Amino acid sequence: MSKIKKIILAYSGGLDTSVILAWLKEKYKAEVITYTANLGQGKTLDSIEEKAKSTGASKAYVENLKKEFSQEYVLPALQAGAVYEGKYPLATALGRFLIAKNLIKVAEKEKAEAIAHGCSGKGNDQVRFEVTAKALNPEITILAPLREWELTSREEEVRYAQKHNISIEITEESPYSMDRNLWGVSIECGPLEDTRREPPPEVYQITSSAEKAPDKPTYIEIEFQQGIPSKLDGKSYELASLIEKLNLIGGKNGVGRIDLVENRLIGIKSREIYEAPAAVILHYAHKELERLTLDKDTFHFKEIIAQRYSQLVYNGLWYSPLRQALDGFVTQTQKFVSGQVKLKLYKGNCEVVARKSPYSLYDKKLATYTKEDVFNQKASEGFIHIWGLPLKTVAKIQKKKEKK
Ligand code: ARG
Repeated sequence: MSKIKKIILAYSGGLDTSVILAWLKEKYKAEVITYTANLGQGKTLDSIEEKAKSTGASKAYVENLKKEFSQEYVLPALQAGAVYEGKYPLATALGRFLIAKNLIKVAEKEKAEAIAHGCSGKGNDQVRFEVTAKALNPEITILAPLREWELTSREEEVRYAQKHNISIEITEESPYSMDRNLWGVSIECGPLEDTRREPPPEVYQITSSAEKAPDKPTYIEIEFQQGIPSKLDGKSYELASLIEKLNLIGGKNGVGRIDLVENRLIGIKSREIYEAPAAVILHYAHKELERLTLDKDTFHFKEIIAQRYSQLVYNGLWYSPLRQALDGFVTQTQKFVSGQVKLKLYKGNCEVVARKSPYSLYDKKLATYTKEDVFNQKASEGFIHIWGLPLKTVAKIQKKKEKK
């Protein structure tokens, strides 16, 4: 293997990636360039460049990717109905693909031989980063210090940082591991590792409890154009801003708290708390509109696709031919998913109360039980006769056999 002279590091500015930065320089005697993306993690990245450089980076990239993240990653997943194991809207997973794509972009521009990340060897994120990186640049070398270095505890990392004069904020140690972007917050570790225990109230970052939520419901109306959420209460928003707005409104009403024991790709079950008000609201509203505008077969088939799609995302296969092919199907289905959905948010609940669309397939004249009814009830007799014929035949033959 040729010598590594330049490394692009995915950098958050936290303890792990700060120590990794110094460790990579020491171990590889290489130049390290950091890359930090703003995906809507809700904290300022103003001082990140300075911090990276003072820790030894030769250059620090900081990019605002909220627009690209919402339009190119969140939107396809929303339209596909991708919710892992029926609960997790995949915020962290979706973010990894975009970060990995940009690490490769910067590596190619800077002619770096390697990229590096701060994921542990037990999680899904290492898989997502590395599979994506190799899918986009098969020749790249990937370094994952957390999987191989000698620092096995937080204390050792702090000691290493002090020894190398890395300025780390001596904040009070939080027992939690958190990841946050526009599409949601992921929280694990500490007391959450005990599945028998209710999460302590302080774990929640962006949602209030049902108890503390307003005593009156909040009604909102979301408009979709061909499956794209475009308006909130009649006002147009860019997708990223709409998501931020819904996180606030939903969070205030206690909507979007998720407590999940999930199956990781590497075979471990883990317990994670998610907060995803906008994701929960938009997935729900979008599906309600599909109930109105998709024909029965397409709607049912799409539910199967949704499950498969969520697994591809969770398992790191965003850049797989299958995911891209499924996108073709999903896009085709969105042609008539336009209209408005009215929701009632109240103490942790999100319920549909009304929906309308110029392409609604709901035909009141067929559905009604009043005298407006145009459905020919007599026609059902023949339908049922033919529909039930296979079962009737089985019954007849088997009864005859039993008698013998
Ligand atoms: N379990 C989630 C996933 O695999 C989130 C992982 C990151 N979680 C965290 N608390 N840092 O997508």
